[in-house]
Amino acid sequence: MNSNIEIKHIEKSKIDTVDFNNLPFGSVYSDHMLTCTFKDGKWQDAVVEPFAPISLDPSAKIFHYGQSIFEGMKAYKDADGNTLLFRPLDNCKRLNKSAERLVIPQIPEETFMNGLKALLKVDDAWIPTKEGSSLYIRPFMFASGNGFHASPADEYKFMICTAPSGAYFAGKVKVLIEEKYARAANGGVGFAKAGGNYAAQFYPTQLAIEKGYNQVIWTDDNTHEYIEEAGAMNIFIRINDTLITSPTNDRILDGITRKSIIQIAKDLGINVEVRKISVTEVIAAAKSGELKEMFGAGTAAVISPIAGFGFQENDYDLPELEKPYAALLKKTITDIQTNKAEDPYGWRV
Ligand code: COI
Repeated sequence: MNSNIEIKHIEKSKIDTVDFNNLPFGSVYSDHMLTCTFKDGKWQDAVVEPFAPISLDPSAKIFHYGQSIFEGMKAYKDADGNTLLFRPLDNCKRLNKSAERLVIPQIPEETFMNGLKALLKVDDAWIPTKEGSSLYIRPFMFASGNGFHASPADEYKFMICTAPSGAYFAGKVKVLIEEKYARAANGGVGFAKAGGNYAAQFYPTQLAIEKGYNQVIWTDDNTHEYIEEAGAMNIFIRINDTLITSPTNDRILDGITRKSIIQIAKDLGINVEVRKISVTEVIAAAKSGELKEMFGAGTAAVISPIAGFGFQENDYDLPELEKPYAALLKKTITDIQTNKAEDPYGWRV
């Protein structure tokens, strides 16, 4: 099964058209992509081929029932020119968890890893070397099989596209604590990286942007009293010297950056509490001056510091710290990712 990966090279590379000193996030694509099709009950051989539009039947179930999941990963170059990945098997395992929830076939780890490595080898020159840039990797799976019957498709695609990318956010963000909408519910798909979870965020986020914020802080769907995520990221809140993040559950993504940050922070001697944290607690801490930092954590942005937040028509600013945890943790994790520091965890591949 998929032991052979056919490579179809692009006729003329587009790499000369790309300014690697001014990379946007996720909108310039490398020359090739990986495609693997599930049909007749099994995965077919994978192919690395030129990045190009794909053709789908208008009745493909992805368009109607949203059977679509994805992952976010990054590849880096170290000073010796080695290509580095960060905990890639965790992404594969999480993709398969998402797949199970959306009744998409499991992708074998071997197909995922061999396909990814073959693609990165062909597009090696696309992996940025500039500090702060990386090759953002987007593995995804979707229902390419047809039919208006509301049931799982019988054909799927597993694909990987890559995009040499700069920072996801420029600078600090201002967020609004959400009191009405929710991105996920108990028993739902919030823990999965389902495309629809992100689509469901767009409208409330648009409303927040209209009010002058950049992102929404998601609260639980039931009471809107507990803080769950920040935009498309997990959230960390520092009260005095303690770093707090919500435990994962049905509604919260088991972020790979999140769990790495928890481990690194503990090993740096930071007191970490994985527990529910209420809006009331955060507001009280903001008022008493004990709220020191809030930041989002995810693959794309790594760590995204929050400058301030809005809640019920009031704005609260976070202090400018001399030595924020956010900066220390970001440096520690990116040094591990890019081979500038020892990796005591065995995360780097
Ligand atoms: C990531 O951090 O890689 C994500 O999946 C967020 C994405 C929506 C950009």
